[in-house]
Amino acid sequence: MLSIAVFGSGAGSNFMAILTAIQQGNLPAARISLVLSNNSGAGILGIARANGLPAIHLSRKQFPDERSFADTVLSTLRDHGANFIALAGYMKQVPPEVVAAYRKRIVNIHPALLPRFGGAGMYGLRVHEAVLASGETTSGATVHYVDEEYDNGPVVLQQTVPVLPGDTPASLAARVLAAEHQIYPAAIGRIAQSERAAEHHHN
Ligand code: GAR
Repeated sequence: MLSIAVFGSGAGSNFMAILTAIQQGNLPAARISLVLSNNSGAGILGIARANGLPAIHLSRKQFPDERSFADTVLSTLRDHGANFIALAGYMKQVPPEVVAAYRKRIVNIHPALLPRFGGAGMYGLRVHEAVLASGETTSGATVHYVDEEYDNGPVVLQQTVPVLPGDTPASLAARVLAAEHQIYPAAIGRIAQSERAAEHHHN
């Protein structure tokens, strides 16, 4: 069973897509153990609360140093039994101690076709501004594993969308977001299934 901690900073529409897939029975090998946000007013925490899920505000700013922040994130994950992390619009860097403790057990969704249009500073509308400035006729969404480098780990799933004449960063973002909502639950389902198969193999 994947017991997923979802980290997010914003509206939480990707979290909502994952939660809906779970509630509809489409991800039988996955559950949400908690939602964590650096932003106390984030929509993603409201969605968690409305669904009776632990909604936790934790920010680096609440701590005197990186280490104590990382320790608290780790103990929070442990207290809720999380064995997997899904970043869903999380705009902060995950502390390296957390990446190390959850190696190959963290995924992220990025609103472009990695390895292009990723890396430091490439988040939110900036990604779509860069895609439009490049003249690309295709963009898309990527679910990938997270390691210590930004937008670097192996790809789990990608979906393309067209860039249309007259697109603005906002119109392209909306088209990409619809693709994100399809591939994030699908990617988590794929990982959960392969893990379940491996568990059966060991038993
Ligand atoms: C999504 O488009 C996600 O890909 C992007 O933020 C948005 C969050 O929306 N993430 C990044 O840019 C991370 N580099 P949501 O809160 O509605 O899921």
